Amino acid sequence: MKLVTRKMRLLIAAVALGGLTAGAQAAPIGDAVAGEGKAGLCGGCHGFDGNSEDATYPRLAGQYAGYIVKQVKDFQNGHRANNDTMAGMASMVGSDQDAKDIGAFYATQEIKGALTKPDKKVVVAGEKIFREGNVKTGVYGCINCHGEKGMGKSAKVSTFPVIGGQHRAYLVKQLKEFRDGGRANDPAGMMVGVAKNMTDKEIEAVAEYLSAQL
Ligand code: HEC
Ligand code: HEC
Repeated sequence: MKLVTRKMRLLIAAVALGGLTAGAQAAPIGDAVAGEGKAGLCGGCHGFDGNSEDATYPRLAGQYAGYIVKQVKDFQNGHRANNDTMAGMASMVGSDQDAKDIGAFYATQEIKGALTKPDKKVVVAGEKIFREGNVKTGVYGCINCHGEKGMGKSAKVSTFPVIGGQHRAYLVKQLKEFRDGGRANDPAGMMVGVAKNMTDKEIEAVAEYLSAQL
């Protein structure tokens, strides 16, 4: 029953999205107010304020608009190809301006707390990897690119996404995909270079640490 409801909601939102797209004027940067309406379709999975309650769907709250736009384009052109659901959803984002508006809306939303209670011991081990990486195996510390607590550097360098406060299971999935070849849309192979040397245990620990950050 839950699925049916979600599908119906999506359909209604899709009609609304189409309506809003028609006749929209192109602006150089995103308009968060317009984006709230256009994000209706996305909210069914990502949460209406970008704080999804299901770890299958990444949180978009607090993410850089530029990063959201880049991912939507990557899903559209098959560059991030491993996800059928998002390929379909991204194809419904009608224009660059719609992607920018949706991105601007989510960027203004605040990230909420973790879904699961973090294991303190694992968090400590994860923080060490986050800060220092692993010098023995050549894992470069995440903090160098993703900033303090994984909260990114600045919206001007949206190349490096906000990863703090993201769902643990989603982080684990992405890191394993970068490592095992399922995801390769990272500029200059930056994430593949890091993930390829990580063990499952390191991935799980760093994800535990990151999901506990706010
Ligand atoms: C039916 C569920 C569903 C809907 C609706 C949906 N998404 Fe997604 N989205 C997903 C899933 C699942 C993923 C994770 C893909 C993966 O595991 O690689 C995702 C990933 C993303 C990402 C990547 C986030 C990141 O941190 O890299 C962005 C950006 C995104 N979606 C934007 C949107 C936008 C914009 C919309 C509305 C137009 C939308 N999504 C609608 C299911 C959905
Ligand atoms: C050399 C810079 C660099 C380092 C070091 C780095 N990353 Fe990344 N990371 C990136 C870039 C760039 C992206 C964006 C990929 C894209 O555009 O799709 C990214 C993306 C990610 C994503 C996907 C985010 C999402 O929402 O889909 C995760 C998860 C991630 N990094 C985790 C880590 C972890 C954990 C570490 C440390 C073990 C780390 N990164 C170290 C550059 C880096």
